[in-house]
Amino acid sequence: MITFQNVSKAFDSLKVFNDLSLHVATGEILGVVGPSGSGKTTMLKLITGIVPPDTGTVTVAEGAVGYVFQEPRLLPWRTALDNVAGSLRAQGKDKAGARAAAAGWLERVGLAGFEGYHPAELSGGMAQRVSVARAFAVEPRILLLDEPFSSVDTVLKSSLMDILESIIRERRATVVYVTHDLGEARRLADRIVEIVPRRGVRELGA
Ligand SMILES: Nc1ncnc2c1ncn2[C@@H]1O[C@H](COP(=O)(O)OP(=O)(O)O)[C@@H](O)[C@H]1O
Ligand SMILES: [Mg+2]
Repeated sequence: MITFQNVSKAFDSLKVFNDLSLHVATGEILGVVGPSGSGKTTMLKLITGIVPPDTGTVTVAEGAVGYVFQEPRLLPWRTALDNVAGSLRAQGKDKAGARAAAAGWLERVGLAGFEGYHPAELSGGMAQRVSVARAFAVEPRILLLDEPFSSVDTVLKSSLMDILESIIRERRATVVYVTHDLGEARRLADRIVEIVPRRGVRELGA
């Protein structure tokens, strides 16, 4: 569950959100579309609390948050396995348990056999799959996806979306899926909102 209540956020004179109210129910997949610079990433940062609202409140259900960024953002000195296991260690899981769970998630995203590879030895699409595995490994209640596939080619994008969709459907996480591609949002989301610059959000349906 995620609730924005009368949220306003500006960066100096730039008003990104003005009196935004929005509710995402538990288990719902909300698609968020809007042009570049409209505030999509800011909306996710408000959910994580990295960016505080100027006025209003953002309420988020308790539990782990998984975040997939536009780029993989892996630690270059760690293997694929340790990049995924690291997020589990940060949750307090023991080393052997974290590595076993991480191996399972890498297999799930089609990377069995690549556990020992470092990010520089992986293609862009493979690295992005590691970041999907990392986000899911923490068993998130809230999953935030920020244009996760904008830098991968069409065929790979389609298979990554299939993987994502099957994992999301079984987990019943609350998901905010940000994209500038309405077709992508339609494929995954239960409901779609469009951020209209300086005018807030409007519902598009799904
Ligand atoms: N930390 C920041 N400081 C100043 N301006 C920012 C900051 N973060 C975002 N912005 C501005 O807020 C607007 C929305 O940014 P962002 O949420 O990243 O858009 P989107 O993800 O939709 O492309 C942009 O004009 C951006 O330049
Ligand atoms: Mg963005």
